[in-house]
Formats: sequence, C-alpha cells, structure tokens
Amino acid sequence: MTHILGIETSCDETAAAVVCGGCHVLSSVVSSQHNLHEAYRGVVPEIASRAHLERILPVVRHALEEAGMPVGGIDAVAVGNRPGLIGSLIVGVSGAKALSWMLGKPLIGIDHVRAHLYAACLKTVRGEAAIEQTEIYPALGLVVSGGHTSLYEVNSPVSLRPLGRTIDDAAGEAFDKAAVILSLGYPGGPALDHLAQTGDAEAYSFPRSLLGRDSLDFSFSGLKTAFLYTVRGKPKGRGRDVYFERTGSHLGDDQKADLAASFQAAVVDILIMKLERALERLDASGRRPASLVIGGGVSANSLLRSRAGVFGESHGIQVFIPPMGFCVDNAAMIAGLAYHDFIAERYDDLGLPAVATTDIFDKAC
Ligand code: KG4
Ligand code: ZN
Repeated sequence: MTHILGIETSCDETAAAVVCGGCHVLSSVVSSQHNLHEAYRGVVPEIASRAHLERILPVVRHALEEAGMPVGGIDAVAVGNRPGLIGSLIVGVSGAKALSWMLGKPLIGIDHVRAHLYAACLKTVRGEAAIEQTEIYPALGLVVSGGHTSLYEVNSPVSLRPLGRTIDDAAGEAFDKAAVILSLGYPGGPALDHLAQTGDAEAYSFPRSLLGRDSLDFSFSGLKTAFLYTVRGKPKGRGRDVYFERTGSHLGDDQKADLAASFQAAVVDILIMKLERALERLDASGRRPASLVIGGGVSANSLLRSRAGVFGESHGIQVFIPPMGFCVDNAAMIAGLAYHDFIAERYDDLGLPAVATTDIFDKAC
C-alpha cells in the first residue's frame, strides 16, 4: 500500500497528514492559527508565514507519530504549492522539498482547489470503507471556501473542466464579512452558521444575484452590501468621512439570529440555484453527472449540507460532501489527491515553485 505524507500551509492552517492508498487517512493534524489572526478579523500574511515556520516540523512529526509511521516508511511527500498566500506556501513547499531530498522520495505539488474537490473521497481508517471512485465520477463539483467559489465538471480526481466561478467575493469570504458586521467570532462562517440555527430565515429578504439567465458564475458582493446596509443603515458622507446611520450595537440576540439565518439562506439559495443550472446544462449536452461533489470550508455549513442532500434526492444523483474535519483546510486532501499523481509517476523536482494563483481556470485538464 502507498503511504503519502501531505503538507498544507496555504493560508492560516499548518497541516500534515499520512494517507494510505489515496483515501484511508491514517493521521491528519491541523494546527490552526485562528487565535493569532482573531484580533485583526482576517489573516495577516506575515503572522501566518512566521507561525507556519514555527509549527511545520512539530506538525509533521505529530502526523507521522499518529499514523505509527517512521519517516522512512513513506513513499512520497506531497505539498499544496498553489494557490495561497505566497509567504505561507513557501514554508510548506520548502519543508516538503527538504524531506523529499533527505528521504530520496518523490515530491508532488498539489493544487489546493483540486484537493478540496477530492476531500469527499477521504475516509478515516476507523470510518466506513472508502468510496469506490467509479461511483463518484463523472461529477458536478462545487468548491466553496474562503478564497474560492467555483463549479466544475469533474471526470476523475485529476481531470476537471471549469464551468463557472465567482466574479467578486467567495462564499466563505461573504460569510466572514457578514459575521464581522454582526460582531461574531472569527472565523465568521461557523459562528454565523451556529447563530442561524435559532433564527428565522424569512425575517429579512436579501438579494440573490444570479448574473443573468445563463451564467454559471457567482457574485456575493451585492448581498454583502445589502446585509451591511440592513444592519447599519445607508452610508453618509464621502471618502474618508463616510459613516453609517447605526453601529449595529442596537441589535438584540433574536434580531442577530434572524439576520444570520436570512443571510445564510440567501448564500445557500444562490449556490443551489447555480447547481440546478449547471446540472441542467450538463444534462442538455448529454453529459449528466453521476454525483455532486462539494468541498471547501463552506461545505461544513449545516444548511448547505442539508440542501445539497435534497438536491441530490430530487435529481436522483448521489451527493458526496467531506466529513467535517476534511471540509476546511487539511493535509489529508493533499496527500490523498497526490496518490493519483504518484501512481502515474507524475513527480515534481526540487524546482517546484510556490505559486499564489491557481491555473485551474486556464486549462481544462
Ligand atoms: O477551505 P477553507 O478552510 O480555506 C480556504 O481555502 O479559503 O475555508 C475557510 C472558509 C472561511 O471563510 C470560513 O468562514 C468558512 O470556510 N466556513 C464556513 C463554515 N465553516 C467554515 N462557512 C459557513 N458555514 C460553516 N459552517
Ligand atoms: Zn482551502
């Protein structure tokens, strides 16, 4: 069996994992930096890269120990080398190169966005048997994270075709910004999801921007602005002197819960409406997918998970969403996806770059 060590440092999570055979997760260690960035209500790149530097070796060691694997027992070292914060990526890529060189094992660079789409294939060793990959593909894929919101036609773990993407904010970013407006904790998505469970999703009516009848792209900036104005009133003044009618401190707990539920319903409605469109489009061109695969931090959202289930049932397709621990950034998805490059002997050399952007939209492969 092939054992791959995965390393992930693209944003504010330092992660390492050992995955066997592309899907059995023997260990997955994630050291989150949320407490370091909380005061800034967003990720500060310099703080993130320094924290990765301090944590990467203990995290890798921990992952190997938890897997019961001596470092020499691994078959390859995989690393998320794109897209992400460049200073953060460099730490993971340098660490992976050092390990690969030291052990004389192949190095495999992995695209973080593709890895999110693969996370639904992962199983912890104590979990159920791994999903047969033929059950999943061809799939309609949705990545919803803090940095990406995009749709794909996915034909295999390593072959996909982009169908649409956000033209402004990502869904996770919209959740985080709405949470800041409501003065919730950081990161905002989980806090807003939690609060929304006690709120009335019909209390407020927020816009669902669909960008015309045929578009498979997303836009969340109008929704975010509508939310801001609903909470704080219209902006007054100009330029640097702009101010709002209210601060938001007038909101009671019930009102905040209603706002959170109504906002979440709008985001999830947009995502589901785009999935409907994409499925219709693929169907019409004779390429009906066998399943829907969702990945990225927002795939942890309770409403999205339940609405996706209903979507699958009503269209007669299976729905694959990662177990909760593999929705947000983790290294198991990196190690799992790398297996498919490993068996095809698609290795990288020590010149592997860290790249801030993804090339996923430039080539259909
Ligand atoms: O995939 P991820 O860990 O990082 C990126 O690749 O961007 O996603 C993080 C995003 C954050 O915006 C976070 O607020 C959001 O995922 N998120 C959620 C939930 N859990 C995480 N958004 C909505 N509901 C959740 N339960
Ligand atoms: Zn991510």
